[in-house]
Amino acid sequence: MRPEFKVDRSGSAAPLIEVANMSVHFGDTKIVDRLSFTLMPGETLGIVGESGSGKSMTALAIMRLLPRGGTVTADRLRVLGEDLLAAGEARLEDVRGSVMGMIFQEPMTALNPVLTIGDQLGETVRRHTGVGRREARMRSIEALRRVGIPSPEQRVDDFPHRLSGGMRQRVMIAMALICRPRLLIADEPTTALDVTIQAQILDLMLDLQSEYGMGIVLISHDLRVVSAFTERVLILYLGQVMEDAPAATVFVDPRHPYTQGLLASVPPIDHDVAQLKAIEGMVPPVFALPPGCRFEPRCSHARAPCSSAVPPLVELGDRHWASCIRNTDYQFRPALT
Ligand SMILES: Nc1ncnc2c1ncn2[C@@H]1O[C@H](COP(=O)(O)OP(=O)(O)O)[C@@H](O)[C@H]1O
Ligand code: SF4
Ligand SMILES: [Mg+2]
Repeated sequence: MRPEFKVDRSGSAAPLIEVANMSVHFGDTKIVDRLSFTLMPGETLGIVGESGSGKSMTALAIMRLLPRGGTVTADRLRVLGEDLLAAGEARLEDVRGSVMGMIFQEPMTALNPVLTIGDQLGETVRRHTGVGRREARMRSIEALRRVGIPSPEQRVDDFPHRLSGGMRQRVMIAMALICRPRLLIADEPTTALDVTIQAQILDLMLDLQSEYGMGIVLISHDLRVVSAFTERVLILYLGQVMEDAPAATVFVDPRHPYTQGLLASVPPIDHDVAQLKAIEGMVPPVFALPPGCRFEPRCSHARAPCSSAVPPLVELGDRHWASCIRNTDYQFRPALT
């Protein structure tokens, strides 16, 4: 069931984050292609796509943490009005953690295996608040307690490898939230976990969100998870937005064949996973992108014009956009039911 959100749009009219035509390149290869969205304080946005769509690179580009060789360009990349493209590394370090926090896809790559959990949490607190060691340790224990880690007074002195996957994920959440950032970017925060723990962790994020009035960008390959926990969804394929719509609309009126394919591969509760239809074909490599619609090689509705030009995102209704010629070309409109 879709949870109730306490959305704080009253406090500030300024967007929490503004991304306009953001692209990510590695050399000549464009991994993310002119992505745009705006998030207000307290709002939740989902970014969904198969593996290799550019979701993690989008998150890392916003955090200005792209791996070596990656470059980000954008007409606008602002958090609380501040231009992140113009910010120097020292300023970015301040902003990360205190203004925006990130839960990384791989907890073990983000947690340092040779430092205790308390040392890692404590260092973050001290860097952003200037409090002393003792106070940082108390805050770390409190943060572990808040994310549901039992006996946090003992766990704080553990090394990451001593914890189960679910507990590590909770430590990651504690780490991302300990300085109460205004924006949380959660990259597949529950993918490695079983369904019960997944739900607990997502619920925890929403609890903390309504408590802190945080904005959340939730990234996942699982459209069902994202549409249950966010208000708005961007469907990403090969670095481009295929559809951009309110989460409730995506389920009842998906207007891009890729979104329809993702939905057909989402198991309803208690459904036999073996009966699901996966989207046919493979995601092509980024160095061999189709020249027209990127989904064309896998699309059962493809027609000749689809391979000649990239279809633009077209507004179809209230805050609902899709980039498929079936929505705009009269020849294909009758088939759209
Ligand atoms: N360090 C890198 N250098 C060049 N290309 C990369 C690098 N890391 C990832 N990629 C490519 O970027 C694309 C998007 O990756 P990613 O953002 O991780 O996708 P997702 O998170 O949606 O699974 C993939 O095609 C991947 O091969
Ligand atoms: S533009 Fe053509 S190929 Fe692309 S999704 Fe639409 S029908 Fe399929
Ligand atoms: Mg990823």
